[in-house]
Amino acid sequence: MERIRIIESKNYVDQQVEIAGWVANKRSSGKIAFLELRDGSAYFQGIVLKNKVGEELFDLATHLTQETSVIITGTIQEDTRSNFGYEIHIETIDVVGESVDYPITPKEHGTDFLMDNRHLWLRSSKQHAIMLVRNEMIRATYEFFNKEGFVNIDSPILTAVAGENTTDLFHIDYFEDDAYLAQTGQLHAEAGALAFGKVFTFGPTFRAEKSKTRRHLTEFWMVEPEMAFATQDESLEVQEQYVAYLVQSVLDNCDYALDVLERDKELLKKYTQLPFPRISYDDAIELLQKNDFDVEWGVDFGSPEETFIANQYEQPVFILNYPKEIKPFYMPLHPDRDDVVLCADLIAPEGYGEVIGGSQRESDFETLKQNIIDFGLDAEDYDWYLDLRRFGSVTTSGFGLGLERAVTWITGTKHIRESIPFPRLLNRLTP
Ligand code: 4AD
Ligand code: MG
Repeated sequence: MERIRIIESKNYVDQQVEIAGWVANKRSSGKIAFLELRDGSAYFQGIVLKNKVGEELFDLATHLTQETSVIITGTIQEDTRSNFGYEIHIETIDVVGESVDYPITPKEHGTDFLMDNRHLWLRSSKQHAIMLVRNEMIRATYEFFNKEGFVNIDSPILTAVAGENTTDLFHIDYFEDDAYLAQTGQLHAEAGALAFGKVFTFGPTFRAEKSKTRRHLTEFWMVEPEMAFATQDESLEVQEQYVAYLVQSVLDNCDYALDVLERDKELLKKYTQLPFPRISYDDAIELLQKNDFDVEWGVDFGSPEETFIANQYEQPVFILNYPKEIKPFYMPLHPDRDDVVLCADLIAPEGYGEVIGGSQRESDFETLKQNIIDFGLDAEDYDWYLDLRRFGSVTTSGFGLGLERAVTWITGTKHIRESIPFPRLLNRLTP
């Protein structure tokens, strides 16, 4: 008999198949038992009829405990009452591994308890659906950038210098020396852009941010494209196309997961409309002030400000040209201004905040060197990075998309901790 995955059920209606999985839940009455089965691809219902399978098997079915692993055989049928649309009429059940006192029961549990049991919580249908969307977004990322001629290069995680700022660095002992966990792959991506034209890095990045918000992880995955001979305006076009591609790919390939998450697909469709609106930092400040926000020109935006700005639009919005003072050393001044830099943050709708930070890069050797010094960094430590501007410098632009921020937004999840399999937070290193 053919072993299939639950997600393939639609191709096997009225056929006898085998399924290897787990009992997620169970209910039974005198003559009929309903097993909620999962196999990692989806969840569906298995039906055991006493008068069909006999006393002994029916008794086994009604005594199966939550998360027992089983191999079952049966016949796939349409099931118009369920969201999934198919069920299996069970004929045989083989128990593979028992499960006694599984800690996560169908009743409500607190978040801390679920987080402590994250290694088991991943088995539940909502967490499963979020991970399917995450997987699709990773797949679509490689597809998009390969299609557009970008080369994937891997940047190191162990680094000698700060990539973004000196305040959120994780320090580690590196033999006799000091090292830091990478905050960004950008500086190495710039080397890649000058070598290969268009590149992207995709890997874990680290921020020792003491923030306990629903948007911050201490370890998160970042997609960082970098392009030679590209201006900030050209980079913005790549950014919006990439984000629209992510949303469209999820709509095309994660229908089941979006249903489980009860995500509004019509809303998601709006996020594929291009171009995305753009507003300058100056205009954003004016808009906020007119609406009674207590903000002065020069401050960075917090979550209430970002949400207010995002709510003016139906798509993600770019905020352009922030003050130089609040942005990193590698951002160049706006050609007509000495107080703002050529950069943009992309703010997601629905209060999800910044999903992309990007900029043109300072490409003039002397200016870059002076910026590094002005930021209180040691120019000698950045000698290799300065080489990029010593030898055939060109206009370079790039950006970083925080994968978990984007997953949280696209799945409509409340907290970023559910958008990564094993979150690392200010007070969480386990499991
Ligand atoms: O704006 P950030 O700090 O930009 C950079 O690191 C640039 N070097 C990127 C580049 O131009 N190559 O971070 C980029 C994105 C943010 O927009 C956000 O989505 C995400 O990374 N991010 C975080 N995600 C989760 N937890 C945190 N603590 C994050 N910090 C940043
Ligand atoms: Mg940022």
